[in-house]
Amino acid sequence: MSVGYQPKWPMDLGAPADSLEAKQPDVDNGRELYDPMRFYSREFMEVEMDRLWPRVWLLAGVTSDIPYDGDYFTFEVGREQFIIVRQEDDSIKAFYNVCPHRGNRVCMNEHGAAASFTCAFHGWRFGIDGKLEHITDEHTFDPKLIEHRPGLTEAACDSVGGIIFINMDGKAPPLKEYLGLPEGYIEQYKVDEMKVVHHVRSAWKANWKLGVDAFYETYHLPYVHPQTQGVMEDFSQNDLYANGASRMIVPICTKSHRVEDQDSVDPYQAAMMADVGIDPATFSGTAGEVREAVQQAKRKRAKEMGLEHYEHFTDGQLTDSWATGLFPNVQMGMHPEGVFIMRFIPDADDPELFYYETMILYRPVENPDWKVPAWMGLPEGTDVSGETRPEVIHVPLGKLPELGEVLDQDAELLPIVQKGVRSRAFKGSLYGDQEQRVRHFEAELERYVTGKK
Ligand code: FES
Ligand SMILES: [Fe+2]
Repeated sequence: MSVGYQPKWPMDLGAPADSLEAKQPDVDNGRELYDPMRFYSREFMEVEMDRLWPRVWLLAGVTSDIPYDGDYFTFEVGREQFIIVRQEDDSIKAFYNVCPHRGNRVCMNEHGAAASFTCAFHGWRFGIDGKLEHITDEHTFDPKLIEHRPGLTEAACDSVGGIIFINMDGKAPPLKEYLGLPEGYIEQYKVDEMKVVHHVRSAWKANWKLGVDAFYETYHLPYVHPQTQGVMEDFSQNDLYANGASRMIVPICTKSHRVEDQDSVDPYQAAMMADVGIDPATFSGTAGEVREAVQQAKRKRAKEMGLEHYEHFTDGQLTDSWATGLFPNVQMGMHPEGVFIMRFIPDADDPELFYYETMILYRPVENPDWKVPAWMGLPEGTDVSGETRPEVIHVPLGKLPELGEVLDQDAELLPIVQKGVRSRAFKGSLYGDQEQRVRHFEAELERYVTGKK
């Protein structure tokens, strides 16, 4: 029950109202305690399978992964898997990866290029447009049984700014309206010009929503990731948009306000400066001046290198993380140099298992003076030319995702939280103002599962 509680969180970077950086008006999402069974019950998982996943737009992948007709990738969520394939007319279609003959998967690969899809069970063949092209020994079938020429079942598919979405039941509102973000918000990053250079999918022993919840707030930074204090402000600007979407702006290259010494430059800050060509040894400013110095250095360098798209970004965007949440299961870390797409994917059967999937997209820059930013955390030897699409790295349960220390800390924590929320002592999450994005997400989810949406 909503009792009219409004967040009073003051953090506002002060951007003008017509800027994409602008602080959004507060939203009243009540202060309900949601029953914690949403994090472990099989019944609740089934309700989500029925009322949530088929009815939303789900981020399936990126257009740069399938530049030519016949290029495809597969995408899985819960019990469903889809083939996303570029058509001859350059449009993109999505099909359930299910053979209408006896249910086999018609495509076994995670990505590739095909002229058609031949099912490995009995050899039925389907065009990249999903149409049935060939039935093995067709004369052995009663013509009545196959007269409807069963092809692959299509799902709705659309894209915005180089990012592809699918909707299983085809009844969701138009994509842009559904996403709830201001016009141009995603498009400004030109994700279509970026390439996936690293792709990891790791299994975590927790409910998928605990993943979303943890990544939607910076309140836990001082405790779980204390090493970020020297280079990140954990009081972030939180913005709530329509339909469960949200954003938090995390100021980077600056010390947390919790750190007493706001003068001397932190080693992490020094590394951020070195990364953009400022010699930390000769930098005479204080810790509080590093963020602006890095912004100016990036702006100047972009001009010198002719990187025109930088002109559209605010100074804040050059340093800060715009962590952008798309309902239900996506967070994107948006930066001019690249975009981190994170998905929280439910397992097919186990409500206490999800897959944390990261695609790191990078914009190749053809200039010998350009270096890949160190903060992107790409493993040694990563091919950033964009010429080869890396394989998806699958990390099994019990192994750390090796996406850096911060991620490992989250991966170690969440299975423990999962145990706690199952306890009979736990009565439901108590979200504060710094967790308003989490409540915004959970409130939207509640509307779907209770039939209000
Ligand atoms: S299940 Fe696909 S051809 Fe038989
Ligand atoms: Fe974290």
